[in-house]
Amino acid sequence: MSELNLILLGPPGAGKGTQAARLIDDFGLAYIATGDMLRENVKQGTPLGVEAKRFMDAGDLVPDDVIISMIEAELQGEESKDGFILDGFPRTTAQADALAAELQRLGRALSAVLLIEASDDEVVRRISGRRVSLSSGRVYHVDFDPPEVEGVCDVDGSDLIQRDDDKPETVRRRLEVYHAQTAPLIDYYERQGLLRRFDGAGSPTEVHDHIRAALATLRLEETL
Ligand code: AP5
Repeated sequence: MSELNLILLGPPGAGKGTQAARLIDDFGLAYIATGDMLRENVKQGTPLGVEAKRFMDAGDLVPDDVIISMIEAELQGEESKDGFILDGFPRTTAQADALAAELQRLGRALSAVLLIEASDDEVVRRISGRRVSLSSGRVYHVDFDPPEVEGVCDVDGSDLIQRDDDKPETVRRRLEVYHAQTAPLIDYYERQGLLRRFDGAGSPTEVHDHIRAALATLRLEETL
């Protein structure tokens, strides 16, 4: 069966990470999330992390060259050779062009771009209640997807925290950046016939059911 190479696209807080966690289990894909990779570098205090933190805390994008070399290294690795989900990348046309060039060089192709749509108001509601575990990476929401014990991760018992860039003023900036720099990728991938749209307004389980069904159909079509 051919590999599934997917991009998750959508505004901050639309539920990309939430859906990725479920899809990885369904389809056994490597998970490549630029936001998580950057936060890990910030946590470790690497030069890349120190540089990236300034942009992330302001709600701006980290420069393309830094991100592109990070992703190229991931795509060349063993882990992603049977299929991957990219979450948070590409976010600019330059990143999308670099991804296309790298995949062509590796003799691989994208299967689909999954756009999770959510309004700005919904995004603000979701991000304001988001809590994360830095060690397990599991994402919760205080109302919509709470942990079994308040403030404690179900996976590894670690403390749940609020991300530094989830402050209301930073979220507004991240939304501006999304509309200006990332939303043009919707047309970019639509023109290539790769875009699949999903209404992110349903519950996490409803959104997951729709995406999983669409991917199962896509796989079936590929085998015909
Ligand atoms: P990144 O970590 O990628 O953040 P983001 O794209 O802004 O997305 P989020 O992680 O905020 O949201 P999500 O869509 O994954 O939603 P989630 O599932 O958590 O990037 C952070 C920063 O890093 C960027 O601002 C930038 O500076 C830098 N960066 C990263 N990649 C870069 C790149 N390629 N180029 C340049 N810079 C880059 O869900 C949100 C909340 O809602 C959770 O609490 C969840 O429980 C809840 N929820 C999810 N689904 C539902 C639902 N259906 N109903 C109700 N609640 C839900």
